[in-house]
Amino acid sequence: MEKILVLDFGGQYNQLIARRVREQHIYAEIRPFDRVTVADILETGYKGVIFTGGPNSVYDPASPHFDPAILDAGVPVLGICYGCQLMAWLGGGEIASAGEISEYGKVRLSHKGGKLFDGVQETSVCWMSHTDYVRRVPKGFKVTAVTDSCPTAAMADEKRKLYGVQFHPEVTHTEYGKAILHNFLYGVCGCAGDWQMDDFVERSVEYYREKIGDKNVLCALSGGVDSAVCAALLHKAVGEKLTCVFVDHGLMRKDEGDFVEETFGKAFGMKLIRINAGERFLTKLAGVRSPERKRRIIGEEFIRVFEEAGKQIGHVSFLAQGTIYPDVIESGSKNAAVIKSHHNVGGLPDVIDFDEIVEPLRDLFKDEVRAVGEKLGLPKALVYRQPFPGPGLAVRILGAITPEKVRLLQNADAIFREEMANFGAESLASQYFAVLTNAKSVGVIGDARTYSYTVALRSVTTEDFMTATWTRLPFDLLEKASSRITNEVPGVNRVVYDITSKPPATVEWE
Ligand code: XMP
Repeated sequence: MEKILVLDFGGQYNQLIARRVREQHIYAEIRPFDRVTVADILETGYKGVIFTGGPNSVYDPASPHFDPAILDAGVPVLGICYGCQLMAWLGGGEIASAGEISEYGKVRLSHKGGKLFDGVQETSVCWMSHTDYVRRVPKGFKVTAVTDSCPTAAMADEKRKLYGVQFHPEVTHTEYGKAILHNFLYGVCGCAGDWQMDDFVERSVEYYREKIGDKNVLCALSGGVDSAVCAALLHKAVGEKLTCVFVDHGLMRKDEGDFVEETFGKAFGMKLIRINAGERFLTKLAGVRSPERKRRIIGEEFIRVFEEAGKQIGHVSFLAQGTIYPDVIESGSKNAAVIKSHHNVGGLPDVIDFDEIVEPLRDLFKDEVRAVGEKLGLPKALVYRQPFPGPGLAVRILGAITPEKVRLLQNADAIFREEMANFGAESLASQYFAVLTNAKSVGVIGDARTYSYTVALRSVTTEDFMTATWTRLPFDLLEKASSRITNEVPGVNRVVYDITSKPPATVEWE
């Protein structure tokens, strides 16, 4: 299989670069700059390397560098932003700070031809975000594009197949970004495009059929996309040999537990063990108000429930996990302060008696996982399910949790989701849900005074959930949702819409 290496210098768009490459049917792998050598690159046989952007200045001694031998290794390289400056620096060029004239945002780009700009209009819009720039290109290179304030918007040494762009071709604001990447991947690196989801499904099914054989494999279903696709893939590979365990903690959205059971147990005919542990979780959570304690309790209880299930199931040969590529990359990075302790179906390896872990999706991005899910015939409602926190509604009910509050929130949330669908607004948002605030306020119904709960509606639009903006939902939709919730959900007399972005708020309220 053809591979492109995305060499990570700390830029914010690295995953996006890899996704853009894969969208063009070429497998891209992200690796930190300090864990790969030129020898590794040659040995792996990468068809090309992309140097990513990064927040540093190349002349800062602490900035991430790379072995200059890469420039003469015979492997095509595309440097993006910091990657372009680094490439120039490694080749003996000169980098300077643009100071006052640093560019940010959409900028007009004029190019002077060359392989990278095949089929690209002479002037077009590109996305820039930089302070430094290449003042003098290294020996062998030519300037191939400029903007009004950047004298080296692109450079190339066609002979050595080395290319640098100061702008970001991976960002959709760059009008010809896709074409430029395509030119690099196909025109320069000579890729043929052998990364296809159909092939992936077939290859994986065959691989796991062979690997698992007549042994048994256990998969924990969370109701989320990743574990669902993982289970469906393995089911296709080994059928009856797969057992799925679904712990329903009672804090799922309305009817969601039943939907999971219907889909996997009935429609797919999988061996599914559903453990209804709602009461057990709610008992543990009684009176608990701290968000972090709620998370901890749910995480721990999950493990306990599994431990008991594990004892009944006994020894399994394989434990399947729905790990996906961003999890693999993220667990390799050290930074990022813990804002909330995330709970997922982790920790299982300690409580299940198994020989080996299998992670069939560990090379895939989320959109690829979804494509695989569709190919396997999973319902769209599952494949395009929005993210849902592991602790479920527990972190959307502020303050102490009671069964009544859970029901109330499930109903309010279901109405909001229905109206999002009725208004065709689902695609406007990346995630939307209702929150049961702990606030009660005065209202009036008929002639009577009420003193009831306030429900907050939350909807955000985001690429990566690290930052998010609140969605500009149509007023008519909000009005309809508000009126239905206050009419149909007893105990709620006020609905508010959350107009805070992340940061400073987080997506979830707890
Ligand atoms: P925040 O609230 O941190 O959420 O801005 C970012 C994204 O993560 C989801 N989220 C969680 N997912 N376990 C999860 O599996 C958790 O504990 C958790 N907390 C937040 C949240 O729904 C959003 O998509």
